[in-house]
Amino acid sequence: MATSRWSCVLLAIALWSCASTQSHDLAGAWLAQPTAPGASPSLIIFERHGQGWNGTIKSQFGDRELRAIRLESDQVSYNVAWGASGRKVQFEGTFKNDKMHLVMHHPSGLRESVAHKASPQEVAAFEAAAELKKLALPALRNVPDNGLARTPPMGWNSWNKFAIHIDDKTVREIADAMVSGGLRDAGYVYVVIDDAWQGRRDANGVLHPNAKFPDMRALGEYIHSRGLKFGIYSSPGPLTCGGYVGSHGHEEQDAKMFAQWSVDYLKYDWCSARRLYQTREEMQALYQKMGEALQATGRPIVYALCQYGMFDVGKWGRKAGGNLWRTTFDIRDDWNTMSQIGLNQNGLEADARPGGWNDPDMLEVGNGGMSLDEYRTHMTLWSILAAPLLLGHDPRYMTPEIKALLTNKEVIAIDQDPLGKQGHRVLQQGETEVWIKALSDGSTAVALFNRGETSTEMVVRWPDLTLAEIAGVRDIWQQADLEPQHDSYRASVPRHGTVLLRVSPRR
Ligand code: GLA
Repeated sequence: MATSRWSCVLLAIALWSCASTQSHDLAGAWLAQPTAPGASPSLIIFERHGQGWNGTIKSQFGDRELRAIRLESDQVSYNVAWGASGRKVQFEGTFKNDKMHLVMHHPSGLRESVAHKASPQEVAAFEAAAELKKLALPALRNVPDNGLARTPPMGWNSWNKFAIHIDDKTVREIADAMVSGGLRDAGYVYVVIDDAWQGRRDANGVLHPNAKFPDMRALGEYIHSRGLKFGIYSSPGPLTCGGYVGSHGHEEQDAKMFAQWSVDYLKYDWCSARRLYQTREEMQALYQKMGEALQATGRPIVYALCQYGMFDVGKWGRKAGGNLWRTTFDIRDDWNTMSQIGLNQNGLEADARPGGWNDPDMLEVGNGGMSLDEYRTHMTLWSILAAPLLLGHDPRYMTPEIKALLTNKEVIAIDQDPLGKQGHRVLQQGETEVWIKALSDGSTAVALFNRGETSTEMVVRWPDLTLAEIAGVRDIWQQADLEPQHDSYRASVPRHGTVLLRVSPRR
């Protein structure tokens, strides 16, 4: 009796431990499907290694090693060196029944997916789909100027605020807010849907939007009816950076479809193309392919290259048909990233002129991660740089202070000056810098930046800026004409702050 009671208990323990290891058995291949509509699956493979684990994640971005894999009760965690920067991205998985619910801590926000143990057939299908072939690329030539972007493009882009969580309704509401909030009338006209609008390609190769964007043509009509222009996003690679379908091998087809949707602006983001193409020539040829495809549609479409400044893009972006080209890694809503990106643009000024602009990435003004002084520096720096001004906040909710920063006519006029000169640094002392930008009426924009942690007195001597005979000095942010001080100007510049002047010569 006693023996049989014990054997029952032992059997129960054995069954329990068997069931428990069963439900948490990590070893093997898991097919992970993101919960966001349209995003592509990945295959995650775990293998036992002594007391611990080894692992790999496979996607069309290539294979990446899983690091610091930890399995505890019903949770697994690991990290992956992600993206071009190799930044560490943390993943956490929770087992529920036979599924694993995964959360990826991507810099743009959390991304969720649900994984299940893949059958051998599913693994084979995944591997076959991930098999990539290079395209035959066109010979390099100069794509003719499309006549657009005579001044740096201005508008709004969904990425910085919404990342992959963007939909038709939000875009329409933002178009409305850009009109009612005065942003359109200040010059911000492009409404650009960044990554995560894509669904699947059908048997004819037609790329359909995902369920969040039921009718792109109607959305384009709506945006146009508000006096705005319509922008969209794709990649020369098979997948975008968010894991959505890219235009690889479908360039002409997608360009035609964009034109039918009445698209006026395309951002074209390198992303997974790097797995297939590694040379500058290949990169230029792929961008040229889409540049030519856009022009062949006959519709004027501003063409924005996004490849993080690789291979000296300012030297060939225009040849590939580009109207702007990213010169940097992704901006973030913090002072260090923004100021580093902006101030690093010095030296690129020879590449910018009407029709083609250096793009230090979209604005973060209004997203909450910086002080008003820091956002004022952001806006000033981008204007001195003749940078494209793509708003990156939610225009439906905008404080009067942020609206004032974004719609200051005189600041925008410096950015949009028809001479099309990108400014540059002329003086640097400790944590202070002075930058100038020549303007079409013969005046000069002068910006005083203080990167330091305390407010600082700055003095600029006009002769040091080769501005000899001064007739007038206007403080742009204060909107005040100043008494021209003999041969110099002195101001207290706040921590991380800016003074922006427009200095007119004596005629
Ligand atoms: C890259 C780009 C961003 C944004 C995302 C979308 O990171 O640099 O601006 O377009 O991809 O996935």
